[in-house]
Amino acid sequence: MSTPPRHFIDIWKLEAHDLRAILDDARARKAARKGWPQARVDADAPGAERTLAMIFEKNSTRTRFSFDAAIRQLGGSGIISTSADMQLGRGETIEDTARVLSRMVDAVMIRANHHEDVELFAQNATIPVINGLTDKSHPCQILADILTFEEHRGPITGKTIAWVGDGNNVCSSFIHAAPKLGFKLNIACPAAYHPDLYDLARAAEQQGQVEMTEDPREAVRGADCVVTDTWVSMGDVDGEERLDAFEPYQVDEDLMALADSRAVFLHCLPAHRGEEVSDGVIDGPQSLVWDEAENRIHAQKSILAWCFGKIG
Ligand code: CP
Ligand code: NVA
Repeated sequence: MSTPPRHFIDIWKLEAHDLRAILDDARARKAARKGWPQARVDADAPGAERTLAMIFEKNSTRTRFSFDAAIRQLGGSGIISTSADMQLGRGETIEDTARVLSRMVDAVMIRANHHEDVELFAQNATIPVINGLTDKSHPCQILADILTFEEHRGPITGKTIAWVGDGNNVCSSFIHAAPKLGFKLNIACPAAYHPDLYDLARAAEQQGQVEMTEDPREAVRGADCVVTDTWVSMGDVDGEERLDAFEPYQVDEDLMALADSRAVFLHCLPAHRGEEVSDGVIDGPQSLVWDEAENRIHAQKSILAWCFGKIG
């Protein structure tokens, strides 16, 4: 019997020690190549002789370029396609696509409209499958966010993260991570746009400290980190209603002032300045959004190394 592939689909399915191993490897790997040209391969080349396929059903800038840069820095190769360019786009099944790609490459990263499609792909693949964002979660983003937070504020365990805005896919991955890494998560969102109730119930079962409120000021007060995201995610069809509902949830200088004086600001990007965040906050001294974007490469290199069985 061959060992099952190591999929990276949701943080709640992973062991806390594996998450910690990935974060520690990312930090060390980033430090080891400080000042190097972007295309130089890491000394241990843990992706040597491996190929990563990247499939996109939705738009992407950061995930696309960071995964491609990541596999190159690990010493491997990448192949990128939109699903529309594949036979997937004209009806070939996910199951058959997974079986075929398992014979051609060593891992697959997928950005999909429907989370269930990534699960189905993984069930039919004999190689690791990585979730590059679905309607339900964005786990790679959250590891980059935690890496960024810890670079500036030390271990996230025991700290308070305030999520302000939509209870969306990115918020769900924070909910998944809270009990695993032992941080407190305060979520402020309008009642109609609450996070997935199964995610909240699972976090409670795992003794996660996740608090819900409709008041952004209550969520942010004393927090070590304030995070937000777009009010209208890819695939949302009620854009106008959302802009109205979320208006009181903009992260601006007044809201940031309620957080701890050393609090940092994170946003997965792309940002909509003047909507979920003011220019003053995203361009201000507490904002780490460019480090956060860069850290997508470093976190994902270690996710790939974990999938390849090189760490953890
Ligand atoms: N944050 C993020 O995933 O960005 P992209 O949609 O550009 O990949
Ligand atoms: N919540 C956003 C994240 C984009 C990176 C979306 O799904 O569109």
